[in-house]
Amino acid sequence: MNQTTLTELLTPLPLGEIRYFDAIGSTNDEALKWAHEGARDLSIVVANEQTMGRGRMDRPWFTPPGTALAYSLILRPTVTEKPHLSRLVGLAALSITQTLQSFGLSPQIKWPNDVLLNQRKVAGVLIELVWSGDEVTCVVIGAGINVSKRAVPSTDILRFPGTSLEDALGNLVSREVLLRNILSAFIQLRPQLGTDALMNLWGEILAYRGRQVRVEMGGDQTVVGRLEGILADGSLRIRDDNGKSVTVHFGDVRLRPFTDILKNKVNHV
Ligand code: BTN
Repeated sequence: MNQTTLTELLTPLPLGEIRYFDAIGSTNDEALKWAHEGARDLSIVVANEQTMGRGRMDRPWFTPPGTALAYSLILRPTVTEKPHLSRLVGLAALSITQTLQSFGLSPQIKWPNDVLLNQRKVAGVLIELVWSGDEVTCVVIGAGINVSKRAVPSTDILRFPGTSLEDALGNLVSREVLLRNILSAFIQLRPQLGTDALMNLWGEILAYRGRQVRVEMGGDQTVVGRLEGILADGSLRIRDDNGKSVTVHFGDVRLRPFTDILKNKVNHV
């Protein structure tokens, strides 16, 4: 991957500018800096390696050289998009799942920001906002996708089992082509941000739908119940064991299938 091949391959897409780095701390940090400096809508930062990649809740995100796709897309949301910014995580995850489906795979979205293949995490999305006063001026959508097996960290440091596209497909895919297809899917989905159609797509591909889950909400607050679906603002709806409907908002939350916890299959907590 380099600036020239990437720029050539992405030319047909209506993007802003493209910045490629052989190695960088975090593409999200670079994109946030660039957004402050006036980056155009749909500008993108791509890196072959991240040395300080970040996940949700400031967890480290590993991007060893040549193994993964790591990018941060800068959006300048329009007036009509601004009321729906909480849906962008779903839109970004859907752009990844639709691309993986085109490879014949059956991905799922584990609310709020993970993409799963065969019940294992293959990708994560990290959204960060740039504010001016009380207005959001830019959104940085960072995504990391494990392309080769070498991108998957060892199980002792993972909080949830990981996998890669190579594990699922049995071969390596071009990171540039993967990125082009994801961006193309994102651009096609973007006009649907405020629509029910987007929420339906998101709901259909949701992991653990209809199943018992446990949601840990930071501190010792936990909800156990049936995962019913996603609300219009992207929150999660759970029906707890007393039949009460509980809404879980983004934030310091961790979602897991309850049966796996009982079987102690998922022990990365
Ligand atoms: C998560 O699963 O917690 C989100 C992971 C997001 C990782 C991506 S890789 C590209 C971008 N740069 C970062 O530092 N993080 C995001």
